[in-house]
Amino acid sequence: MCGIVGYIGSRPAYEILIKGLHRLEYRGYDSAGVAMLTDDGRLNIYKSHGKVADLENFCNAQDLDGCAGIAHTRWATHGEPNDINAHPHLSRSGRIALVHNGTIENYTVLKEALEQQGYEFKSETDTEVLVQLIEYVMLTNGCQLVDAVREALHQVIGAYAIAVVDTQEPDTIVAARKSSPLVIGVGDGETFLASDATPIVEYTDKVVYLNDGEIAIITRGKPLKIITADNESAEIDIQTLKMSVSQLEKGGFPHFMLKEIFEQPRTIRDCVRGRIGNSGSRVTLSGVIEHADVFRRAKRIIIVACGTSWHAGLIGKRLIEEYARIPVVVEYASEFRYSNPIVTPDDVVIAISQSGETADTLAAIKLAKERGAFVYGVCNVVGSSIARATDSGTYIHVGPEIGVASTKAFTGQVTVLTMFALAVGQVRDTLDREVAAKVVCSIRKLPELIKQTLKLNDKIEKLSDTYTYVHNFLYLGRGYNFPSALEGALKLKEISYIHAEGYPAAEMKHGPIALIDHELPTVVIAPKDDLHEKIISNIQQVKARGGSVIAVVTKGDTTIAEIADHIIEIPDVPESISPVIVSIPLQLLAYHIAVKKGCNVDMPRNLAKSVTVE
Ligand code: AGP
Ligand code: GLU
Repeated sequence: MCGIVGYIGSRPAYEILIKGLHRLEYRGYDSAGVAMLTDDGRLNIYKSHGKVADLENFCNAQDLDGCAGIAHTRWATHGEPNDINAHPHLSRSGRIALVHNGTIENYTVLKEALEQQGYEFKSETDTEVLVQLIEYVMLTNGCQLVDAVREALHQVIGAYAIAVVDTQEPDTIVAARKSSPLVIGVGDGETFLASDATPIVEYTDKVVYLNDGEIAIITRGKPLKIITADNESAEIDIQTLKMSVSQLEKGGFPHFMLKEIFEQPRTIRDCVRGRIGNSGSRVTLSGVIEHADVFRRAKRIIIVACGTSWHAGLIGKRLIEEYARIPVVVEYASEFRYSNPIVTPDDVVIAISQSGETADTLAAIKLAKERGAFVYGVCNVVGSSIARATDSGTYIHVGPEIGVASTKAFTGQVTVLTMFALAVGQVRDTLDREVAAKVVCSIRKLPELIKQTLKLNDKIEKLSDTYTYVHNFLYLGRGYNFPSALEGALKLKEISYIHAEGYPAAEMKHGPIALIDHELPTVVIAPKDDLHEKIISNIQQVKARGGSVIAVVTKGDTTIAEIADHIIEIPDVPESISPVIVSIPLQLLAYHIAVKKGCNVDMPRNLAKSVTVE
């Protein structure tokens, strides 16, 4: 949650900070603020409720001087989104300003202690405690900013990425992290910092990912210095970014979400590249090959993830059980971490996360490792915390996903999990050669099949007119496509605010059937598969009760065409590959309904892209 940006160099900081906030806005967008520090120690802070554009309007005609600064776009955890609670927060004397991503769990204790020392608090945030504490330590110990930050953080329990400036040290920004991400961009005579690399990439491709517990001292004209919480010098590992600015722009599309839906033929090609050859049935995943023994002796796989990534995990379970014959359980990371789970060294834990920063998933990994399991990551963001915390893994390589609703990451995750199941099946010798050849051949064709499926866009746009103002939706699917129903419903509810439920089609008669009437549309995912006859009965049950049905079917399915109100025809693909194809019309349906309702599809209310708090 929330995005942090920092800059120190010789250029005016404001432009860089605002541009950086726009790039990070997908992480949080309820309020925003900037602090610019001039060489002679003047500090200008501007904050505003609302989006980064509101902050920009507010900043027009203000004093924006300063070649150093910090900025923040917020996703409130403590205190409502308003001007006062927006970051940066200022210390009592006005000399220290701070931005924070995360939550301070012991903030009430710290606040009370500071109040006893005469400190007064202006905001309702947990964050303000940090800035007052740093100043208190600084004045009590008579020390410099970095020592005050280090000392203060010893007293803090919680998650944080912070950037701090002090008017008495106008050439320095101090930054620190624990559990929330922070990346430093090393330029020529200038340094950048941000919650992820997107604000940095247009200035430099040299980055350092700060590790948990580290503190960075960024001083104008001096090399970057990183220390540990115990004041030891830490190693600086400069990495080269593989990201381009064009990946971060809408490229002519009205929304990032639509751009990302339409990118999928390419993103799946990138995801598969080098892992499946032009012929043959071999899958090469180095993360599996290098740890073949682990997968050979694994007794169980536990998948941990949240949201859309959890849905991908449910599909992964079926794929792995089918092709690698290992029992799989799929857990919400947030439940797993607090359930005292039974995890043994014979287990492999797979953590799935687009951002690689989800706090619950990261905590689940930590727990699994403590209990001796081998942890495999399926992430998108290269160098993210989860990617670094796992023992091995596979990147989905779909490029930056900016729209808050996950689309191309979901299809990338399912594709990687398909290749993973095949690769582990190869290692364990559980894979039927003919089946493998068929599935691999379909994976190879996926980009082309997605391209064909995207031609449905116009039809779905028209269809969305009929359903723009309904209040509820039901999504039904079976087998591999039960998770597709969950994901279709999640897409619709998160961007259009229409209540939607996903259900296994055959479970409908055990309860949800009571909801069906002429006002409740049902999306039935019914491609030709082993359960096709059964799902036709489910459609009949809905129709018999006056419900309308939108059916996603295999091209040429005349039986369902006769009974459903609307059909969406997808190409004929093997059942195990179908969730990738099915997800395309479901993404488009959610998108068009939300746009027609006038919703902000890229930044839906209350949500944030990267959930770095509990
Ligand atoms: C997806 O559309 C969601 N906004 C959300 O459920 C997301 O999938 C979830 O927060 C997990 O994120 P991650 O994949 O980055 O860990
Ligand atoms: N806990 C802080 C707040 O509510 C920071 C939240 C964030 O990460 O945006 O202001």
